Amino acid sequence: MPMKKQIENFLNWYRDLYGRELYIADEKGMSIDGDGEKMEALKTFHLQIKDCQKCPLGKTRTNFVFGVGNPNAAIMFIGEAPGYHEDQQGEPFVGRGGQLLNKLLAGVGLRREDVYIANILKCRPPNNRDPLPEEVVQCIPYLHRQIEMIQPRVLVALGRIAAQNLLQTKESLGNMRRRVWAYQDKPLIVTYHPAYILRNMNMLDAGVEDMKFVLEQFNQTQ
Ligand code: URA
Repeated sequence: MPMKKQIENFLNWYRDLYGRELYIADEKGMSIDGDGEKMEALKTFHLQIKDCQKCPLGKTRTNFVFGVGNPNAAIMFIGEAPGYHEDQQGEPFVGRGGQLLNKLLAGVGLRREDVYIANILKCRPPNNRDPLPEEVVQCIPYLHRQIEMIQPRVLVALGRIAAQNLLQTKESLGNMRRRVWAYQDKPLIVTYHPAYILRNMNMLDAGVEDMKFVLEQFNQTQ
């Protein structure tokens, strides 16, 4: 059965069983009040860094993948690095993994436009290899600046590589999920990378549960 159908079936099954969407974002909403200032500041920052050549990935990228979403988002998702489709389109999580991420967000009543999505590396590593430490060192200050500007209430690391780089640990993903970590003074939650779930569809329930955990933690920050 195609992946999309499986997820739809799962969400429909949940709705039929419990008579509601998997989780409803609470009435306070997902974005922090703000005007267009953050949007402008992010645009300016994007323009400042988009031609970055601090590491060799600047030579091999098609597009610099800055980040996307609500500049006033209260939840920020952080992946590892752009893949092929992201490199082609200049936007994070637009491939099959991105489609699954959108579904997982929908499962907890969120839209992609409600949150902010970025990566640790802004440029695609050749053949999607793991980010090198020297690339992370050069690139992660851009992410830090984005976090400072957006001021999300909760951060979510998508996948082991993103989480290990953010938390400077070698812990397994299994040990990192379902706990609240801290990154830059903000709560950080770790969940599976959508691409991992796509390769292991038996992990879909766990991915859905993790999103629910994110929402629960988010609601506790208010
Ligand atoms: N994987 C990531 O970690 N980030 C993307 O943007 C796409 C795939």
